[in-house]
Amino acid sequence: LLTHTIGELRGQLTRLIAERGAESIGLVPTMGALHDGHAALVRAARAENSVVCASLFVNPLQFESPLDLRRYPRDLAADMEIFQREGVDLVLAPDVDEMYPGYPESPIVRVSSGHMGAILEGASRPGHFDGMATVVAKLFNIFDPPGPARLRAYFGQKDAQQLMIVKRMVADLDFPVTVVPVQTQREPGGLALSSRNQLLSERGRATATVLSEVLFDLRDRAARAEDWNLAELRRRVQATESVILDYFEVVDPNTLQPTTEAPALALIAAYVDSIRLIDNLLID
Ligand code: PAJ
Repeated sequence: LLTHTIGELRGQLTRLIAERGAESIGLVPTMGALHDGHAALVRAARAENSVVCASLFVNPLQFESPLDLRRYPRDLAADMEIFQREGVDLVLAPDVDEMYPGYPESPIVRVSSGHMGAILEGASRPGHFDGMATVVAKLFNIFDPPGPARLRAYFGQKDAQQLMIVKRMVADLDFPVTVVPVQTQREPGGLALSSRNQLLSERGRATATVLSEVLFDLRDRAARAEDWNLAELRRRVQATESVILDYFEVVDPNTLQPTTEAPALALIAAYVDSIRLIDNLLID
């Protein structure tokens, strides 16, 4: 199940595809610290593919702050238990030197996400989406199945801008990959599941539900054809103790440009106890 090198992974992948006569493989890229959101991606992949793979790699290229990279939660044993329970066939968990030999001098050639990666989340995290796209491009090549089998890759709607950039990369650069979106998984109180939630205090977790509350309120207002009153919803977040709002925007889901009409994508980012959290909801 667990491989640490690209060579070993490719050997096992070739063997499994032949053994099962697989017509497609499903790939779930992750950075570990797994929760039910990741599990939902694995379940979607299992429903559609006879071989299911996952990657577990905390990609340093997509962290713009060394502190954020350092404190990102890591627990390989717990993650492997979840992958096993959910029926993943192969996991690649490489170290930084396996992915980027000579890091940080390499990789020299990287993917650019263009203006799509410079707005919203990208405005607060310069370089984040280029680093993300670079590792995803590598993963698509690493997991490219031998022979006629197809590659399907599963991404969560939770990271909506990431999903859009990955889809755009596949279209623009002709990756032979089908990108499959999976719905955001939430706690009963509405908080979107995230690996970063475990960095929150119990109070912080309760406070953080304001992010999903304003998104759902906005969707209800749109459904009742009421004024969205985005400014009032922003003020509600700003008035919440130990929450610092970064942005709360409603954009066209295809262009990411601001809009006042449905269908639209509402995106929010805030710091709760200095932990950065994001969420989004489709308004249609
Ligand atoms: P990570 O944050 O581990 O997320 C892995 C995948 O799980 C992403 O596609 C993400 O959108 C999805 N996911 C996270 N929380 C979710 C939730 N509550 N509901 C549904 N899906 C959820 O995103 C990354 O890692 C990295 O950027 C990666 C794509 C692996 C590249 O390094």
